[in-house]
Amino acid sequence: MAAEQKTVAFHKPAGKKVELSDHEREEIDTWLARYPDDQKRSAVLAALRAVQHEDGYLSTEKMDAVAEYLDLPPIAVYEVGSFYSMYSLEPVGKHTIMVCNNISCMLRGSDKIIEHLENRLGIKLGESTPDGKFYLKQEEECLAACCGAPMMQVDHVYYENLTPEKVDEILDGLEK
Ligand code: FES
Repeated sequence: MAAEQKTVAFHKPAGKKVELSDHEREEIDTWLARYPDDQKRSAVLAALRAVQHEDGYLSTEKMDAVAEYLDLPPIAVYEVGSFYSMYSLEPVGKHTIMVCNNISCMLRGSDKIIEHLENRLGIKLGESTPDGKFYLKQEEECLAACCGAPMMQVDHVYYENLTPEKVDEILDGLEK
């Protein structure tokens, strides 16, 4: 996944502490079991993915909880969460839509797909719908599915050979 430069805005109300959920702990433990005891840092990516999957984004409080669970300084977790474009540091819509607009997808009509999504959802790239259902993330770099261009990823599921009609079917399914 490509890294992107982004403004980091940590939300940290004073004195507020949150715990990881049982599910998040289970997921992190699964990954910790794969690494030596003194290499807990290796589980940060997976831990943050588990948090984002459950909360929809990475709050500073949850990153603090991850740091505590992995015996790491909070900055070691913040720097990972703020580096990778797959993580979001602010609340966004429940379903994250990422449209690839790299060369193969662009040549096969990704601009039209993005335009269709913006019109249907009534938002621009980088925005979430007012009802909190969808987040149309900024254009993505190649997502390694060029043979299925144009493509998009919705909640980590790949949809390929897109047409506006196919996009409508996918969104209809998610809205049910
Ligand atoms: S160019 Fe779109 S997936 Fe590679």
